[in-house]
Amino acid sequence: MRMMLLGAPGAGKGTQAQQLADEMGIPQISTGDMLRSAVSDQTAMGLEAKRYMDLGQLVPDEVVIGIVEDRLAADDCERGYILDGFPRTVPQAEALNAFAPLEAVVDVHVPETELVSRLCGRRTCKSCGAIFHVVSSPPSREGICDRCGDELYQRSDDNEDSIRERLGQYKSKTAPLSDWYEGRGVLKRVDGTGKPSDVYARITDALGRS
Ligand code: AP5
Ligand code: MG
Repeated sequence: MRMMLLGAPGAGKGTQAQQLADEMGIPQISTGDMLRSAVSDQTAMGLEAKRYMDLGQLVPDEVVIGIVEDRLAADDCERGYILDGFPRTVPQAEALNAFAPLEAVVDVHVPETELVSRLCGRRTCKSCGAIFHVVSSPPSREGICDRCGDELYQRSDDNEDSIRERLGQYKSKTAPLSDWYEGRGVLKRVDGTGKPSDVYARITDALGRS
């Protein structure tokens, strides 16, 4: 299945995409993770992207479309994939639609006050990318990943100014994709509040997989 998780920063796209990918046996493709990896490798593209990411702004469409087009051409994408954080603008959706139209788009909705507390308490594994929260899903040993044992870190864009900007960018540039995909008959709206396992059950239900 070619699907995408749509939702504001902190809506739980990464959390849900990791579990869906494990259970469906198809890759999770997170443009945020790909860009962060380019930043840490200090590639030319990573250095350009960092300027936008630190401010909480979107990286230019042509940069992101290029990396996704390359990634979707890989062999492991033949049976489908779960896009996490792409597309994020109407031009990105139009570009994707021209080469790989999505079969399902799940819009995960969470109220803004909860988004902020989720982002402020998030911790992510440096190696495997597993996602934790200091209050709602803490690791068994503080600062250490339960999955691979490496160190957890706090993302540099999970600070008050960046979060405010990311939420603003989401409202103005990404939220319109909900109607865009509804018009193409592939949109499923899901309540993203409650335990991650409850949200997961709602998503699989909406996809007709429960
Ligand atoms: P990206 O990495 O995609 O960040 P984002 O969209 O801001 O989303 P997040 O990763 O912050 O949130 P999430 O929904 O994945 O939540 P998570 O599961 O981690 O993008 C970063 C930047 O890269 C962008 O700002 C932009 O600059 C650039 N970029 C990326 N893609 C781009 C594109 N297509 N075009 C242009 N630029 C692009 O969960 C958050 C926290 O909540 C965690 O602590 C988790 O444990 C907790 N949590 C999850 N579910 C629950 C639950 N049900 N109850 C309680 N807590 C929960
Ligand atoms: Mg994420």
